[in-house]
Amino acid sequence: MEDIKDIIADILKKLSLFSELNAAAIKELAGLAEERIFHKGETIFEESTTGRSILGIVSGEVRITQMAKVSGEETLTVLKKGDFFGEMALLEDLPRSATAIAHSDTFMLEISREKFLRFIEKDPVSGVKILFTLAKILSERLREADIKIKAFVNLSQWI
Ligand code: CMP
Repeated sequence: MEDIKDIIADILKKLSLFSELNAAAIKELAGLAEERIFHKGETIFEESTTGRSILGIVSGEVRITQMAKVSGEETLTVLKKGDFFGEMALLEDLPRSATAIAHSDTFMLEISREKFLRFIEKDPVSGVKILFTLAKILSERLREADIKIKAFVNLSQWI
């Protein structure tokens, strides 16, 4: 019978961040991940609070929002199965840049900053693969943000 670590390993493999890792590294990570369930509308964490973990979405969707002075809560993006979030506070050791809310019932895996950094130190080959994938995804998110800024600047010229 498959033990819980094997089941979590199968799930981790499907997360974009860990897609390049070999089976041994995935199994090692499976021992570090904690299961988290949030119901639709529940706040996972709030902007400006201390963040010391990264989360991967196994099922469901997560809405990332920020408070704007004039318009109130603004949705930056809705993340889906296979996506991860919480990496910014983890990498920079700064407060959360945005609020994360369960957009539907969600099941997630969470890895603490301490365990994540220890894993990278212990297995630098896997660490490089993870950090490269992370950089690629951050670059994609920056491109999307650039497109939105450009659209906003163009629009504001007409107001
Ligand atoms: P962190 O700052 O730890 O907590 C909020 C998270 O929301 C952040 O990490 C990212 O994972 C995610 N996030 C913030 N801004 C964006 C964005 N523009 N697109 C996608 N995800 C984002």
